[in-house]
Amino acid sequence: MPDIAIEQARHGSSIGQPLTRRDGLLKVTGGATFAADNRPEGMLHAVVAVSRIARGRVAHLDVAAARAHPGVVAVMTPENAPRLALDPDAKDNPFMFKLDLLQSDRVRYAHQPIAVVIAETLEAATEGAELLAPRYETEAPRIGLDGQTPHVPRTVGAGDKTSAARGDVEAGLAGAGRRIEAVYETPAQYHNAMEPHAIVAQWDGDRLTVDTPSQGMAMAQMRLAGLFGISPKNILVRSPFLGGGFGSKGFLSGPQVLGVMAAKLVERPVKLVLRREQMFGPVGHRAETRQTLRLGTDADGALTALDHHTLTATSSFDEFYEPASALSRYLYAAPALSTGHSGVRVDTGTPLFMRAPGEASGSAALEAAIDEMAEACGLDPLAFRLKNYAEAEPISGRPFSSKALRACYAEGAARFGWERRSAAPRSMRDAAGRLIGWGVGTALFPALMMQAEARAEIRADGTGTVAIGAHDMGQGAWTALAQIAADGLGIDLDRLDFRSGSSDLPNGGIAGGSAHTATAGSAIHAAAAAALAQLSDLATNDERSPLFGAGNAGVYARDGRLVRRDDAGRSESFTEILERAGRGSVSASGQGSPDPAARDSYAMHAHGAVFAEVSVDPDLGQIRVTRLVGAFAAGRIVNPRLVTSQYYGGMIWGVSFALHENALVDPRTGRVMNANLGEYHVPVNADVPSIEAILVEEHDPHVNPLGIKGVGEIGITGTAGAIANAVYHATGRRVRSMPITLDKLIA
Ligand code: MOS
Repeated sequence: MPDIAIEQARHGSSIGQPLTRRDGLLKVTGGATFAADNRPEGMLHAVVAVSRIARGRVAHLDVAAARAHPGVVAVMTPENAPRLALDPDAKDNPFMFKLDLLQSDRVRYAHQPIAVVIAETLEAATEGAELLAPRYETEAPRIGLDGQTPHVPRTVGAGDKTSAARGDVEAGLAGAGRRIEAVYETPAQYHNAMEPHAIVAQWDGDRLTVDTPSQGMAMAQMRLAGLFGISPKNILVRSPFLGGGFGSKGFLSGPQVLGVMAAKLVERPVKLVLRREQMFGPVGHRAETRQTLRLGTDADGALTALDHHTLTATSSFDEFYEPASALSRYLYAAPALSTGHSGVRVDTGTPLFMRAPGEASGSAALEAAIDEMAEACGLDPLAFRLKNYAEAEPISGRPFSSKALRACYAEGAARFGWERRSAAPRSMRDAAGRLIGWGVGTALFPALMMQAEARAEIRADGTGTVAIGAHDMGQGAWTALAQIAADGLGIDLDRLDFRSGSSDLPNGGIAGGSAHTATAGSAIHAAAAAALAQLSDLATNDERSPLFGAGNAGVYARDGRLVRRDDAGRSESFTEILERAGRGSVSASGQGSPDPAARDSYAMHAHGAVFAEVSVDPDLGQIRVTRLVGAFAAGRIVNPRLVTSQYYGGMIWGVSFALHENALVDPRTGRVMNANLGEYHVPVNADVPSIEAILVEEHDPHVNPLGIKGVGEIGITGTAGAIANAVYHATGRRVRSMPITLDKLIA
């Protein structure tokens, strides 16, 4: 990266500002176009018919009845579905998921698409789909973690190690003065973004345009290119706004591809939108886990051993294993540590990355186990965490690139008033006699980086453009990345044309793994610096410029001017430099990617501490979260308002994880019984307590040149455990299966 970039990071004025969303007005006035808002000329509506059974085959569909319905144009079934250039069951990397695309009559999970009805109106398509009246040959579904023989997966998560260990855990446990062993369960959860998966697909010969929500447009483009046997260059994916993704829009799902196939079949543009209940199957979910934690300490409460094993479920036909034990590789110091996973195959859709995949479930269990261990040692849970604070990453032994977790504990505890906690369970009550409980959980999420490209241009009129196919799924990428772009170019935000959300722009990578700002931001920063370096060359090599002789490292950009570092009084505007050079503009590309050497040398994670207060009705077991304070350290904060919002969102999901979400599967049918937002509970305003997020200062010189870690997922981690621990503190009852509901509490 040119030297000018390093200077630029110091002199910017936009990064760090709590700006409101640049797309806020569009969103609240209905001006933001989401995928399903598109309506090209001649468009038809497609409705998916989904399977009522979880395993077997479709024996009969009344296609004739559906076709006879007025308005129905076509019925797509395995009989007439377009053949594909690539077997949708082919898989050559962990990011390639098998898709159900009507290539056979086989049913592998409930809510699997079994036909698509295409009609002039949505109503006709919906009614046509009802008329299909499928008959099945049904096999008994395999559901739940029991009943199948577990196997050891080759990898978990995104190609992570299935197991990792250090030291002799059995010896550490055997020699421990105090030990606990406990089993924690977390249920299947479904992403349930507000916007369902949707697509508007248009073919023009062998050119394809799709409007569809995507957290990874370039990957979607490649997936479509492979399936339809056309060049990625022939495919345009547009995704300017997403109504949430949480991981379920990271990869193109089967129903989205079915929309493209339907458009091919009828040779007209087609819109396909999933109904809410159809989201419970073909677009991923967080699989259930059963986690066994064994911990031992010496007489002083220092951990001697920690063992974390996760049993989880994947689909009968594909591979995704919730990496719930991985967190224990990063968090607490113990001379002996082991982490592992096993899996069973069940008849559900394939699980997928879901906000804080692994860490969310893993921390719900680990943080509760830490609480139990602290109590067994007679130590305050916060003091116990500090006693077992890892100064280096426990299994790898690498130093942390930065770790302000101590400050998170201190600042969070001070704000929450933790020192006033009385140690014994059931010892605190409010004025109304409800039991009060206080709990704490540690938050951690890896500071990942992926690959992205950006392009930057500076024009003679003093304006600039930054173009990157980045993704705003509601987290505020359009705002935060534009702030980085404005600073990178040294111009005001209102002089910046920020282009994003389309696959014909430079590949912005994926919005996932809490890595989008760090990755796309690094690409933008590099592109801007390269464009400035060209501008600097034009000035510093020209005797007529006040910057003559300064060199790239000797200038920075601010307010549309290049300024000498050693003499801020000597500067020249971008306009003067470009006009004198007879140039309309300069432009350059840049890359964002992790630095492999830094990542070999350092462990990189964001950290936090979440403090929760609950009140519990002593007779009815009704639980209310009344207060949450989270303190998080995640490197440089690009926009404190948006980051606070991310932490709120994460912590609210933590409430949801601890108390609400639970996909209930009928073991007889394999169907999710509560496949709707009335019965699949997520928090509403009344469930969201007083909530505070503290942005703890942290400078990280290693993670990337901008010092940015991720903030999107860490808020869930820590929170669910803190709430579970607070419920225990309030009631003296350990409920080790989430969600913690009143029936479990008073049972
Ligand atoms: Mo996230 S589960 O990486 O969108």
